[in-house]
Amino acid sequence: MKAFRSPSRSFASDNNAGVHPEMIEAIKAANEGHVVAYGADPFTARAEKTFQKHFGRNSAVYFVFGGTGANVLGLQAITKSYQAVICAETAHINVDECGAPEKFSGSKLLSVSTPDGKLKVDLIKHFLHGVGFEHHVQPGVISVAQATEMGTVYSKTELKELSSFAHKNNMLFHMDGARISNAAVSLNASLKEITIDCGVDVLSFGGAKNGMMYGEAVVFMDKKRAEDFKYIRKQGMHLPSKMRFISAQFDALLSGDLWKKSATHSNRMAKILADQLVEIPQLKLTQPVDSNGVFITIPKKYIMALQKKYFFYVWNEAISEVRLMTSFDTTEEDIVDFVALVKKTVK
Ligand SMILES: Cc1ncc(COP(=O)(O)O)c(C=O)c1O
Repeated sequence: MKAFRSPSRSFASDNNAGVHPEMIEAIKAANEGHVVAYGADPFTARAEKTFQKHFGRNSAVYFVFGGTGANVLGLQAITKSYQAVICAETAHINVDECGAPEKFSGSKLLSVSTPDGKLKVDLIKHFLHGVGFEHHVQPGVISVAQATEMGTVYSKTELKELSSFAHKNNMLFHMDGARISNAAVSLNASLKEITIDCGVDVLSFGGAKNGMMYGEAVVFMDKKRAEDFKYIRKQGMHLPSKMRFISAQFDALLSGDLWKKSATHSNRMAKILADQLVEIPQLKLTQPVDSNGVFITIPKKYIMALQKKYFFYVWNEAISEVRLMTSFDTTEEDIVDFVALVKKTVK
């Protein structure tokens, strides 16, 4: 029997992956001489143009250190403290940001339970009943994650339904796009088609989960909404002094098709992983595999033994559901080895 090598890659998170070699090259190439700090440099100017090629000349992009910061500051820019942000119960802004959106924007989050991480108009329309009533928080923003925290992907029609509901009711439409590239390739669509064309007003654009070392972006589809954002970003402690290294990575990611290649690969790896795991009768998929996440139940008694070799997170203990993520560097061999271990363990 084949001996298991100690795995150097796991399925815990796309954040656990290293940095794509082309990002390292981009950082190296930007590491020449001195340039003006805080974004007044040629690398940032180029990356801003690249973003405008994707999102149009009326858009404005701001680079920040991380995804929580992108969400929090993007939301802060478009809400008043008496306004609320409607989101899914499973949303990163609701469960994984340590209350930062509430603390920094002052806005309450109104969350709803969803079967698949996706908001729908029917699930959220009751939040409008207190509009105009001063005792109630006023819904100001609908925030979706694309792809969702459950690995699912909104169709363009689903996004348009939510954005028109938002706009008809004087709300804005925010998208947490930590995995926007995975969503776009899943829908075989451009970045523009699943954002601005679907009514998105403000987007957190993910870099780290698609191979960057660090760095995310806040994209305003209408630059008029960004008039104060440079102050909000600085006050919010997300103005990188050596911004050129974030900008250079984004430019390398988005000026060609690297963003697409990496996301296509990680999505494909997730499909292969899921297809092989569902062959094991005790394992059941809990969500469609639309992007690079596989949500699957594994009987509890086997989980610890598997985690010893391949660390991954239990997502919902009540149903013994685990989350397995693939990334730009997952290989088919990683999957073969992991599935063999699962087959050997789950008898
Ligand atoms: C949906 C989603 N949004 C945002 C983030 C960004 O978080 P961070 O602040 O860790 O970069 C993550 C990271 O796990 C995420 O999964």
